[in-house]
Amino acid sequence: MRIEPAGTVRGDLAVPGDKSISHRALLVAAIADGESDIDGFGASKDTLSTVAAMQALGADISVEGERVRVGGVGLRGLREPAAPLDCGNAGTLMRLLPGILAGQEGRFELTGDESLSGRPMERVAEPLRSMGARMETTDGHAPLLVEGGALEPVRWELPVASAQVKSCVLLAGLYAGDGPTTTVEPFASRDHTERMLEAAGVRMRRKAREAAVWPAERLRPLSLEIPGDFSSAAPFVLAATLLAGSELRLHGVGTNPTRTGFVAVLERMGARIAVFNRRTTGGEPVADLEVHSAELTATEVREEEVPALLDELPLFALAAAMARGESVVRGAAELRVKESDRLETVKDALRPLGVRIEIRHDGLRVRGVPSRPKGGGVVDAAGDHRIAMLGAIAGLVSREGVDLRGAESAAVSFPDFFAMLDSLALR
Ligand code: S3P
Repeated sequence: MRIEPAGTVRGDLAVPGDKSISHRALLVAAIADGESDIDGFGASKDTLSTVAAMQALGADISVEGERVRVGGVGLRGLREPAAPLDCGNAGTLMRLLPGILAGQEGRFELTGDESLSGRPMERVAEPLRSMGARMETTDGHAPLLVEGGALEPVRWELPVASAQVKSCVLLAGLYAGDGPTTTVEPFASRDHTERMLEAAGVRMRRKAREAAVWPAERLRPLSLEIPGDFSSAAPFVLAATLLAGSELRLHGVGTNPTRTGFVAVLERMGARIAVFNRRTTGGEPVADLEVHSAELTATEVREEEVPALLDELPLFALAAAMARGESVVRGAAELRVKESDRLETVKDALRPLGVRIEIRHDGLRVRGVPSRPKGGGVVDAAGDHRIAMLGAIAGLVSREGVDLRGAESAAVSFPDFFAMLDSLALR
């Protein structure tokens, strides 16, 4: 796909519903007692993998645009499907679902695409085994085999902050003995599961880096409106910041503080982002954002900040490339086990534009030049949706544009990304 340089981005936009919350809404609604009504569902390849998996497990799900109705089967009502559950590219599905399956009767097999099959899965298998579930990985990876049974509560200390691992353990805690199951993280990751379980009537106790869940008799069906996905808004926030003369309003974006670290870091660099109309929907904070272009200064992203901008770190690298001075990211080794090795793929994606990135085992260093990069080359998305969107924004802010290879990967989280970008970018 040819990405032409843009003069400015201007206009108003509403991005699709949050992917993390959309997955969780389907998982939790499927084991609730009765019918859930979900609005603002973010349909994408990933979340449709979750729809298909929960249907195969017996939940009655209908999707009409952004409106999803789920007939829940009750906490222990999922049934063994005829074929393995195909998680596609969706790490959130493959890591959260075993927490629920560990409490069901039967044997369940989970498979994924090539990228997902290369990602570490012992991190969810270990806690589930310690709770008494039978769980096999294939040399630490998918395919996974989960066999449900009686579970015991656990206090699980995560070596690395991970919302997927934390959520898996908390979901299994719904089925575990009669005491609380607790997770402790080194730094706080996104807390959508905790908020949703509370909305479903589950007894929870929460501290900064600790969450505890008590076993449940039943879950209340959900009536939710899912906010716009901050991670889908982020590429547009960056484009409007980097292109002089831009003015962009994004409506109804999720502003859960465990997700908006990218705004905090950009503001520290000098970005002009106003957050207004703050409200709450479905237990999650939401707001409108207004972004004006600004000149940026380099900054350092510390380890404790990483979870709140984990999926936006590829975009941060581009911000840093156009900022005055040298920027650094530390404590981000997790980027190596995302949909691609994002330290390598970010470096490779920005190299054709003339951007120099030095990578370390757990981070990167970018020498910024406060002007538009030259561009003109070919950027490869490496099969990773976040790198495809990074490549598109990089082309837009470059002087000569880029050819983007693998643009279709964006559909994993954001099928309308390029159409929305086209509607805003002025040549
Ligand atoms: C997600 C958590 C994050 C993030 C991923 C989605 C989730 O991963 O990178 O895209 O929905 O829970 P971690 O498990 O590393 O926090």
